[in-house]
Amino acid sequence: MCGIVGYVGDNKSIEVLLGGLRRLEYRGYDSAGVAVIDSEGHIGTRKRAGKLQVLVDDLEDRPLANGATGIGHTRWATHGGPTDRNAHPHLSADGKLALIHNGIIENFAELKQELVESGATFTSETDTEVAALLVGREYESTQDLTEALRRVVARLHGAFTLLVMHEDQPGVVVGARRNSPLVIGLGDGENFLGSDVAAFVEFTRRAVAIGQDQIVTIRPDSVEVIDFGGAPVETEEFDVAWDASASEKGGWSSFMAKEISEEPEAVGNTILGRVHDGLVKLAELDPIGDAALADLDRIVIIACGTAAYAGMLGKYAIEAWARVPVDVELSHEFRYRDPILTERTLVISISQSGETMDTLVAVQHATAAGARVLSVCNTQGATIPRESQAVVYTHAGPEVAVASTKAFVAQVTALYLIGLHLAGVRGTLTDDQIRENVVELQAIPDKIAEVLSVSQAEIGQLAHWMTDTQSVLFLGRNVGYPVALEGALKLKELAYIHAEGFAAGELKHGPIALIEPGQAVIVVVPSPRDPNSLHPKVISNIQEIRARGARVIAIAEKGDAAVLPFADEVIPIPLAGSLFEPLLAVVPLHIFGMELASAKGLDVDQPRNLAKSVTVE
Ligand code: G6P
Repeated sequence: MCGIVGYVGDNKSIEVLLGGLRRLEYRGYDSAGVAVIDSEGHIGTRKRAGKLQVLVDDLEDRPLANGATGIGHTRWATHGGPTDRNAHPHLSADGKLALIHNGIIENFAELKQELVESGATFTSETDTEVAALLVGREYESTQDLTEALRRVVARLHGAFTLLVMHEDQPGVVVGARRNSPLVIGLGDGENFLGSDVAAFVEFTRRAVAIGQDQIVTIRPDSVEVIDFGGAPVETEEFDVAWDASASEKGGWSSFMAKEISEEPEAVGNTILGRVHDGLVKLAELDPIGDAALADLDRIVIIACGTAAYAGMLGKYAIEAWARVPVDVELSHEFRYRDPILTERTLVISISQSGETMDTLVAVQHATAAGARVLSVCNTQGATIPRESQAVVYTHAGPEVAVASTKAFVAQVTALYLIGLHLAGVRGTLTDDQIRENVVELQAIPDKIAEVLSVSQAEIGQLAHWMTDTQSVLFLGRNVGYPVALEGALKLKELAYIHAEGFAAGELKHGPIALIEPGQAVIVVVPSPRDPNSLHPKVISNIQEIRARGARVIAIAEKGDAAVLPFADEVIPIPLAGSLFEPLLAVVPLHIFGMELASAKGLDVDQPRNLAKSVTVE
């Protein structure tokens, strides 16, 4: 939530900041703002409510003097509505210091009270302005920007990344972080700070992640990191694995369209390098060790949103293959429930961004309770992997559209790899059985590509017909159930249509009361080929809702003749083993959500009220 970018270097701050904000806009788009120290040594700021384009247009109409030092912010509102005044940057009382913030300062009310009592006036309703005024005061007494920020962060509770700059210190930007992300980009005669590497990848692929409770001071030719106590910190550089073009739209109408088209590569790249002699070997699990993995008595998967549905699929596969009980919990429910955790519990967190605060605090809680923590993450240098014992990265590439698509299939793939690795270590599958599953998994990218090429136009047409639909229900059984939940979530997020996913077996225990003539129901139908398949039961469920007038759209294996008489539309998917069907069945649902939102004229990349990276609890 909220994107942050800082720059010191040449006289091109505004271009760097706006470019960075464009790539960070997925983190929030309630307002945007920049502050730049111009060549005369004065701070100029411009901030506007609305999407980044409003600020860009304003800067074109009323240019701001460029400079070599600047900070920029794109906001997801927490304290105070999305107005020009509440937009960042915020200034110190003398207007000489500018500050931006990502996170929530939980004790801002008492700090504000203290400031008001000592004569301060506020121009916004934000928690952030408290920090701007406090750092301004500390600077007056210390004349040292790093020390001023250090003194203030010691007083703040909550989650924050703060960047500050001061008129009297051109060529310096100082950042601090606790529980919110901040990454350094190392340039040649210029340096960068960003909420993630997307902020600066256009200029450099050399990056350094900043740890918890650390402060960084960048100048054009130096970078210094200290902890909140003032002691120097050693840092480690890493190379950003993708280049700037990966986070550009290319010729696509939206990032989402591009990202759905990348689902085959997201799966393929996540498998790459992890299969040896047909078996899965995840060297990333070494920090936990095979002995501990063999001895596990329980796995708890924690995640939010789409990642939690990926986790539900992970449960089916891991239990089937590795024969260890798996629970799936929403991170925020897990964290505040005093869960039972022992050293034989493996907690697997799943997060595309690696910054979701609910998941981060759950990871911290599990670690403190003595559990082993493994994270599945798509973003290098993010906080959750840094705080986990082991990490399996998904290689979906940068995901920019707020609602997750390609990251979902990559997360499921990573969990399946973990399941097969565990099955090997625990001896619950033979090598031949593991190899059969690996072959199935390796075939998925081509099969997703087939779904994309065969179904896209048909689903677009269907979505077009359904633009006036008020409500859509999604049904699935077993591994089809998380797919139904994911399909419903996409429709809510993207098209603002009331949508619910149900386990089809639960239908007659309540949801069937919702069925009335014309109600659209999308049903994920399992393969009829599997002898243990729930296919007949799902066909019965379809008949039950058809009898009550539902309009049925079935996602079914191609050639499934049994479904034809009972469905108004059938979207075919290729043949796959039953645990692998979800990786195919979900693709039409991603397309459907996107197409229906587009048909309604909505912005599929930036749905209202949402942010991609939810860095507040
Ligand atoms: C937000 C996004 C969702 C995403 C969820 C978890 O709610 O809108 O698309 O699934 O966060 O994000 P994470 O980065 O932890 O996977």
